[in-house]
Amino acid sequence: MPDIIQLLPEIVANQIAAGEVIQRPASALKELMENAIDAGATNIKVIVREAGKSLIQVIDNGCGMSETDARMSFERYATSKLRKADDLYAIRTMGFRGEALASIAAIAHVELRTRRDVDETGIQLSIEGGEFTGSLPVACNQGTSISVKNLFFNVPARRNFLKSNAAEMRHVIEEFQRVALAHPSIEFTMLHNETEVFSLRPGNFRQRIAGVFGLGYNEKLVPVEEDTTLINIKGFTGKPEFARKSRGEQYFFVNHRFIKDPYLHHAIANAFEELLPAGAFPSYFLMLEIDPAKIDVNIHPTKTEIKFEDDRSVYAILRSSVKRALGKFSVSPTLNFEQESTFNLPLSHLSQVPVPPRIQVNPSFNPFRTETEIRFPSPVKPGQDWSELYKGLADVKFAAPSKNQETISLPEAQGNDWIQTIPCFQLAMKYIVLPYENKLLVIDQQAAHEKVLYEKNLAAIHKHPVASQHLVFPKTLEMGPQQFNLLMEMKSELKAVGFDMSEFGKNTFVIHGVPPLVNHEEIGPTLEFLAEKFESNPETIRLEKSEKIARMLAARMAVKPGRQMLVPEMRSLLDGLFRCNLPGKSPSGKQIFYQLSADDIAQKFS
Ligand SMILES: Nc1ncnc2c1ncn2[C@@H]1O[C@H](COP(=O)(O)OP(=O)(O)O)[C@@H](O)[C@H]1O
Ligand SMILES: [Mg+2]
Repeated sequence: MPDIIQLLPEIVANQIAAGEVIQRPASALKELMENAIDAGATNIKVIVREAGKSLIQVIDNGCGMSETDARMSFERYATSKLRKADDLYAIRTMGFRGEALASIAAIAHVELRTRRDVDETGIQLSIEGGEFTGSLPVACNQGTSISVKNLFFNVPARRNFLKSNAAEMRHVIEEFQRVALAHPSIEFTMLHNETEVFSLRPGNFRQRIAGVFGLGYNEKLVPVEEDTTLINIKGFTGKPEFARKSRGEQYFFVNHRFIKDPYLHHAIANAFEELLPAGAFPSYFLMLEIDPAKIDVNIHPTKTEIKFEDDRSVYAILRSSVKRALGKFSVSPTLNFEQESTFNLPLSHLSQVPVPPRIQVNPSFNPFRTETEIRFPSPVKPGQDWSELYKGLADVKFAAPSKNQETISLPEAQGNDWIQTIPCFQLAMKYIVLPYENKLLVIDQQAAHEKVLYEKNLAAIHKHPVASQHLVFPKTLEMGPQQFNLLMEMKSELKAVGFDMSEFGKNTFVIHGVPPLVNHEEIGPTLEFLAEKFESNPETIRLEKSEKIARMLAARMAVKPGRQMLVPEMRSLLDGLFRCNLPGKSPSGKQIFYQLSADDIAQKFS
């Protein structure tokens, strides 16, 4: 029997390594940006096409490479950053394994141009699928430019696994933000399909945060500073009143490397303790400096996890410094958290006083008038079960309200005479109470409205023409790059629910029309709410995009407790509710009504 073990050909080994390090365009971008930083660049330009699928180019003004080094850089385990085993414990550079360029070159078409200060001419190298295909001297600026084209061209399984351009672009932006935040003194720009996405001047950390997330962010930051023998902490947390309902901006950098660390995250969440309402997340941007000998960076292929020698002390120091910072800025625990967190999103145009959604009913408007195929449930006869009322309702459609209707919020009751005349009242500005048969029905106004809006939104997305309220003066909205990108991803579904919007240059939309319930001041906050929810809403993550949007918009627009409802509104809401498929449960699974029978009541008297 011959021996059967063989060394893998180098190209295969590199492709395997690439599988770990390069998962998507964003991971290639991260490696290239980190190389530029390690090369001492003060200016880094990123050019991306088709979310990095067809091109990722990083141009730096760093030290450049000699011709020999340039060739060597594509060999696996070739690095200028480690010399001996001990160096692993003194890592100050972003890279150290010498794997990235070899991996990238194994699965893409790569072109490198580089020149050192001391050299007159530079060198240009081309590599395709790990093979050198060209080399020539070139005149170029000092520094390095690497273009990575057609990522995964020879690994179809990986290429097919990539998500839509919008989704991949989200990762690209996130990686870019992490590197840019970690290095505020370096100038960064990013172009995507010839459009500028970021242009970040060198500055301090605070300026960089504002550069990345919008100028409005500045006033939301509480400085955190702590210097101990073990660790030095500098940075900011968001003020609690700006906490997000969904995961906000949470950034830890250890020695200028972005890391994920649930344990340290817990330290901060703990410091915020009672300052945050349930379900809200703190934002933070913290730079930790620690002796590299006291951490191990080499535990994960993408280097986003590290191990601290003494993680308990780091935890304790972090927690106490955040706590103290919050205390020092007299952030009092009596803040009113009932306020919608989304009114406090980071864009400057939101600094106006938020106006609560206005809901009025136009009694002469009938959104169902044009609908011919609706079969109205007949009034329930005595002795019939309440649930009879919902039978056959699944196929009842909602018509889109007409364009000129600006203020209607609820479908109007009509046809259902019993609803038109039923006595009902509002309890505690929260519930609608009505007698029915020998029972008392108590309906949660918010959950009921959410349900009605949800079905209407869904119907709009799936079947009906757009229910859009045309804006006489189109509104221009500038968003953060990430939000802009998210909204682009949701664009066709947003259009279906009534957001008629078009792109207008850098991170900007022009809004031509909005769903009938959204008033002018609410357009920005509503879109940001949707983007934020869409990005990180764990419980809806598995839902279809259209269902998700229908549901989020319904949650956003539904009448909130504390809002007085007039009798016609309540009737109209009831009518809408009873047309819904399964009117007993809200889209988020909450109970919509509760019934109290005469027997239940009798028991109270017994
Ligand atoms: N932009 C750049 N400027 C100068 N040198 C670079 C650049 N990118 C890569 N290199 C050189 O190529 C080597 C290999 O890069 P890489 O494969 O990313 O491994 P690592 O960063 O882990 O050393 C680096 O150690 C560095 O010497
Ligand atoms: Mg590297």
